[in-house]
Amino acid sequence: MTNNPQILIVDDELGPREALRMILRDNYQVAVAASGKEALDCFEKKEYDLIILDIRMPDFNGVDLLAKMKQKAPDTEVVMITAYASVETATKALRYGALDYLIKPFDRAAVQDVVEKGLMRRHNNRDIKSKLKELQLANKTLEEEVEFAYKNIQNHYSETVSSLVAAVDAKDAYTKGHQERIAKLAQLIGQKVGCSAEEVELIKQAAILHDLGKIGVPEAILMKRDKLSEAEFKIIKKHPVIGAEILSPVKFLKEVVPLVLYHHERFDGTGYPEGLKGLQIPLSARVICIADAVDAMLSNRPYSQAKTADEVKKELRKCSESHFDPRLVDAILKNNLIDIYVLLVKDS
Ligand SMILES: [Fe+2]
Repeated sequence: MTNNPQILIVDDELGPREALRMILRDNYQVAVAASGKEALDCFEKKEYDLIILDIRMPDFNGVDLLAKMKQKAPDTEVVMITAYASVETATKALRYGALDYLIKPFDRAAVQDVVEKGLMRRHNNRDIKSKLKELQLANKTLEEEVEFAYKNIQNHYSETVSSLVAAVDAKDAYTKGHQERIAKLAQLIGQKVGCSAEEVELIKQAAILHDLGKIGVPEAILMKRDKLSEAEFKIIKKHPVIGAEILSPVKFLKEVVPLVLYHHERFDGTGYPEGLKGLQIPLSARVICIADAVDAMLSNRPYSQAKTADEVKKELRKCSESHFDPRLVDAILKNNLIDIYVLLVKDS
């Protein structure tokens, strides 16, 4: 319990006021007020642990005064004084936050008991509040530490991704920068087909890593200028699986794995590695597939010359529903994404 608890007795009648003071003065710091106004003045000047408040005074309704005091200092305990016990009075006082009520004339033991109870409750409430404050502070520190750790992980992730992309670029000079470019286009397409911000972010990450598996394909095949043999093409076709296998153990790239694995699936089911068809292929993988193809068509490759934007549009129309999801083809053409992409790549 607090040391020297401060108690304010508010009653316009001298008799009950003094009676209470006599009961409490030996154990507490007791102040008295003979009117509602005087009580408010005292209350403004200092904080009391407990107030014993007459419910009927000439200048103030005790319940109104109680409400005012509770509003200003919710932790101050208030005990009401009433001349007679009535359910109505008690309910009203308790509803406004009074701890209890005392009936005139006072019973010494009842007064001491209710005051002890009030002071104990105030002490406990203060204790809980101070512990809550400590917890909130500790929680804030923890949140800051988690945020710092998360940013660290993000930075490590970015560095890891950059290293992996650089490794693919170093191996396949013809596709250098291809990953970053298709990430841009895949992002534009994802936004136009209603993907959420999180999905678009995932598409970007997967687009950057989609050809990671080429690390496992011999350079002689990747760099070959002539048409690939069936056996060589079989090896190239392994790269989505190799990429997915490299990324699978990395926990924070879990959601990227299926997009890397299925970026060569075709809408009509003739793609690889699993021959998934239509909506069996995740939307984000279909987005990466079409962005990948558009960038490839617009680039000079060992085995083919770059196509013009119009030729690419024609090719998309031709391969809609066979190679590509028709909804994505429509979104690209309707929103002029090929022309926008050509300008973006030119400026980068
Ligand atoms: Fe690929």
